[in-house]
Amino acid sequence: MGKVYVFDHPLIQHKLSIMRNKETSTKEFRELLSEIAMLMTYEITRDLPTDPVEIETPIGHATVPMLKKQPICLVPILRAGLGMVDAILKLLPNAKVGHIGMYRDEETLKPVPYYCKLPNEAPNSSILILEPMNATGGSTAAGITVLKERGCKNIKVLNLIATPQGAARVHEEHPDVDIYIASMDEGLNENAYIVPGLGDAGDRIFGTK
Ligand code: URA
Repeated sequence: MGKVYVFDHPLIQHKLSIMRNKETSTKEFRELLSEIAMLMTYEITRDLPTDPVEIETPIGHATVPMLKKQPICLVPILRAGLGMVDAILKLLPNAKVGHIGMYRDEETLKPVPYYCKLPNEAPNSSILILEPMNATGGSTAAGITVLKERGCKNIKVLNLIATPQGAARVHEEHPDVDIYIASMDEGLNENAYIVPGLGDAGDRIFGTK
């Protein structure tokens, strides 16, 4: 069964607390999301394999660890996931980026993928799905399904905030996928917003309402 990893590092928690405040500006919100995405990436990439490489330093010979050439692919779920991409690319500059767009069918209330563009090497890559808010788990789970239908196997989910029901839904449909979050919040209100959450992440990143 997949696991949920909560990053309780004080820096991440402090920055998330500022993001939750409704008085926080779009600019600051965006910057904090980027900073948290970087800090979470630092933790998630802890198990990346390295190879010993021979080099010459100005002083002498050394055998040093370098990251194995292993393809990594970031897949933001539009649109809020876009707010995490640039920051993660600073740490993983060779990562490729795919995109998945999803809308909610007003009759079935189910997420329907309307757009998917992935790099050719996605099926052989370590994939990181980026979605700040995992509320019901519906769009995250549907995004994983889209990726699996295209041959992707090694998939991790990066959320800022999840709910217990959102994480459970993802694991019911995809028990092989681990979820990395900064906070597990209480649950959902009647409009499917996360409580206490931070509001609509897309609106707060892009300054829309
Ligand atoms: N999406 C958001 O952006 N916020 C929520 O609280 C739930 C879903």
